[in-house]
Amino acid sequence: MTHLAVFASGTGSNARCIVDFLAQSPCARVRLVVSNKPQAPVLAMARERDIPTLVVDRAYFYESERLLDVLAEYDIGFIALAGFLWLVPPYLVRAYWRRMVNLHPALLPAYGGKGMYGMRVHEAVKAAGEPETGITIHYVNERYDEGDIIFQARCPVAPDDTPADIARKVQALEHEHFPRLLERLICPTPEDTAA
Ligand code: GRF
Repeated sequence: MTHLAVFASGTGSNARCIVDFLAQSPCARVRLVVSNKPQAPVLAMARERDIPTLVVDRAYFYESERLLDVLAEYDIGFIALAGFLWLVPPYLVRAYWRRMVNLHPALLPAYGGKGMYGMRVHEAVKAAGEPETGITIHYVNERYDEGDIIFQARCPVAPDDTPADIARKVQALEHEHFPRLLERLICPTPEDTAA
């Protein structure tokens, strides 16, 4: 059984989907939820499900490597960033190289980078008159949203869609695909390995 840590700063709707989906998985479980916000609803979600939580502040995250000890303590083999807004420090990128992925609510490389998160992304997509948008799941490196892309899914943007409409469509894609993709990355089938 591979243990997954989910890092999230906000509501945690994706974290919830991941936890619940992997609860049925033969090979992966969410074992820890990490947040930089002590009041983040994602922490309440985790506690309700008896999943250990860890709140980190900037000094803990950037000026020490104590997080690696906690991740080792929980035997964490893989990390999913689901709405975690801080840049990941080099020590953590190195320790989980190709074992840490991020979910982004647009089709990277467009609409990514520092400051491009949440409704800002959907407002920018709307302002540009894009005919479609979607989600990107990518490996994490030391720069915002620049790691190698693993998976994208698309949805149309109608001319009268508001940014909130776009957000709903994108969130539906996230909830559908992210948990399943994580399971495939963590426990590849022989076909995945051959591909
Ligand atoms: C998602 O849109 C994800 O793509 C982005 O942050 C958002 C998190 O939403 N990285 P939630 O907290 O999981 O609802």
